[in-house]
Amino acid sequence: MSQERWTAVDHYIDDLLVGHDPALEAALQASVDAGLPAIALTPALGKLLHLLARMHGARSILELGTLGGYSTIWLARALPADGHLVTLELDPRYAEVAAANVERAGLAGLIKINVGPALDGLRALIAAGAGPFDLVFIDADKQSTPEYFELALELVRPGSVIVTDNVVLGGALIDAASEDSRAHGMRRFHELLAQERVGGHRVTATTIQTVGAKGYDGFTLSLVLP
Ligand code: SAH
Ligand code: DHB
Ligand code: MG
Repeated sequence: MSQERWTAVDHYIDDLLVGHDPALEAALQASVDAGLPAIALTPALGKLLHLLARMHGARSILELGTLGGYSTIWLARALPADGHLVTLELDPRYAEVAAANVERAGLAGLIKINVGPALDGLRALIAAGAGPFDLVFIDADKQSTPEYFELALELVRPGSVIVTDNVVLGGALIDAASEDSRAHGMRRFHELLAQERVGGHRVTATTIQTVGAKGYDGFTLSLVLP
């Protein structure tokens, strides 16, 4: 099986099940035009997040890693009219592109983009007594994922769902000797999840490997237990 085949199947799925969407396509185009890296979720994975948020009845969502707002738009579209989404982004230029994309999608009223390092953003939300968020999507720099997960646990409730992107990294996840800080981060993340309690909460999780237009990777789905 080849990357070419994975990409072709993703296109097939997009055409039949995801469909063409002016706001999402405009968001991707504006991101390309602004020189942002092409690392947003694939449409099929964007729709998966959207469906998870809808199935879960999420009213409040926290995202780490906005980029151009592609995943932000998918997630915010799952919210009710009085719902809200907070998204944390390090790069002010990316955040500006995302803000325009979110505005164009008609979602600006539901979304707050906080610019700065996600560690600071999370600590500020905790200090402000924000949350609990029904769903958290962790998709910022990969090496800090375990720290993000532990801080995110202070912003959720039993029943909250946490989705973490890019956890398999082409299989590098299981290379114990890897000096890649991203792979090391994802191994530490899995070791954290393997503990009975994480940050005083019980959490149960699974990781799903994926192939598609963006190669071989995967995501972790975690549920916060009572
Ligand atoms: N969720 C986006 C893709 C995010 S790519 C989508 O699917 O559409 C990862 C993002 O994390 C980039 O925009 C990068 O600038 C941001 N990032 C990297 N380090 C960060 C940090 N320390 N704090 C917050 N965001 C960070
Ligand atoms: C990168 C980041 C992502 O969130 C992703 O899905 C793919 C790649 C990156 O930083 O290279
Ligand atoms: Mg990602």
